[in-house]
Amino acid sequence: MAHLLSASCSLKLSPREKISFKHCNLGSTKFTPSFTLQCSKSSFKRFVHQGKNPQRLNLVHATAVPLNQEMKAQSGTGSLENTENASGRRRVMVIGGDGYCGWATALHLSNKNYDVAIVDNLVRRLFDHQLGLDSLTPIASIHNRIRRWKALTGKTIELFIGDICDFEFLAETFKSFKPNAVVHFGEQRSAPYSMIDRSRAVFTQHNNVIGTLNVLFAIKEFGEECHLVKLGTMGEYGTPNIDIEEGYITVTHNGRTDTLPYPKQAGSFYHLSKVHDSHNIAFTCKAWGIRATDLNQGVVYGVRTDETALHEELCNRFDYDAVFGTVLNRFCVQAAVGHPLTVYGKGGQTRGYLDIRDTVQCVELAIANPAHRGEFRVFNQFTEQFSVRDLAALVTKAGEKLGLKVETISVPNPRVEAEEHYYNAKHTKLIELGLKPHFLSDSLLDSLLNFAVQYRDRVDTKQIMPSVSWKRIGVKPLTVKA
Ligand SMILES: NC(=O)c1ccc[n+]([C@@H]2O[C@H](COP(=O)([O-])OP(=O)(O)OC[C@H]3O[C@@H](n4cnc5c(N)ncnc54)[C@H](O)[C@@H]3O)[C@@H](O)[C@H]2O)c1
Repeated sequence: MAHLLSASCSLKLSPREKISFKHCNLGSTKFTPSFTLQCSKSSFKRFVHQGKNPQRLNLVHATAVPLNQEMKAQSGTGSLENTENASGRRRVMVIGGDGYCGWATALHLSNKNYDVAIVDNLVRRLFDHQLGLDSLTPIASIHNRIRRWKALTGKTIELFIGDICDFEFLAETFKSFKPNAVVHFGEQRSAPYSMIDRSRAVFTQHNNVIGTLNVLFAIKEFGEECHLVKLGTMGEYGTPNIDIEEGYITVTHNGRTDTLPYPKQAGSFYHLSKVHDSHNIAFTCKAWGIRATDLNQGVVYGVRTDETALHEELCNRFDYDAVFGTVLNRFCVQAAVGHPLTVYGKGGQTRGYLDIRDTVQCVELAIANPAHRGEFRVFNQFTEQFSVRDLAALVTKAGEKLGLKVETISVPNPRVEAEEHYYNAKHTKLIELGLKPHFLSDSLLDSLLNFAVQYRDRVDTKQIMPSVSWKRIGVKPLTVKA
């Protein structure tokens, strides 16, 4: 991918080299990283092998596996049993565990006594470097994050750095960690990013669709009892002029009735990648008996969870820019720095929203109540609906209470979407499983705004206005202005 040319995430190490991750900030536990040196087929390889004279770089997957597990993995035949480990705890692999939702979820599950492994290729940090963006909050490296968690709680989170588009790498992680459940957050998740140019559109669909396909094959091959909990999005449904059901709709047509997948009308190449994922997962549930839960998540807001609030090195990322920032987080930062709230078009765009504390709760509920073999279960994961206009009004009110002068402007909508429409999406299944929602209250908005005020010196106001247009997407690789 031309746009990822400058990636230099490969390390040159001897495969025999033994490193104690003590020095790499993973706390006092001794790790023996197993380094797989290979010319990987991964997208990372594609990042570094572009150009006229591609250098043959050895790509290293630093698989931080405790020694006993590494030895088990080396002697294992590959097939996993759906068993707990010796301590009776269940094992959850969190793919994308260095990201916004994934980090909070990995800590939450670890706190709830699951054995957790994070799998991540850190590409989200690379996007920031390449587009000149940064999280509002300073975030520690994944190694320091995990080391700090260990120091505070005594709990170990295993770490596998690599790309799930590289099946050999993913297969090794499965054989080594033997997950009972896989929570898959590991995708390129920005709609604007996928609409920058052809290269990013292709990257997004390749990364997301092939990554998920690899996870499905890994489950089939190495852990057929393993439950896949996959993060989809409410954006897969679009904005139909009828109620949105949870995954399926019963239709009577020409006198015959059937229950069918709810129609999907995705609004970007990113959202389309999620639709393709859902189809692949549904098919493999039918064909191979895989058990899967597709969590069609709404827009997430907030930053603190019980676990990330424990220490500044556990702090989660908080994106406010026009490419990765989600709307409520962005509005809070705009209010904090005195930038007008930017409503795209008429502002009647209505979506489902949830607090990040509910994201982690929903994932835990899905894992604790797994789908049956062959079942493709769909939950709509959000707690409240708001229009963009509603959110601007709420942030204005909360800002004024804190003495901030908040103004709202309408900017030309860079997206192609309905700006006034009917929207009523069902979301009862997670509540039935026990979800206790954190609704968007005045006090939560106050604390989010205070948070944005605390870090306002880090805000780069140049990143706030929309820079990617759905209509102007072109073939030529675009250098996004920093
Ligand atoms: N944040 C939201 O508001 C929101 C809303 C709906 C759905 N979702 C979904 O939830 C998931 C997580 O979202 P997020 O906001 O935490 O995103 P994020 O970008 O913060 O995190 C994604 C993580 O996955 C990793 N990753 C990406 N491709 C990978 C690959 N090929 N191999 C290994 N790791 C890879 C990235 O490095 C990153 O750490 C996504 O699938 C997204 O579509 C998020």
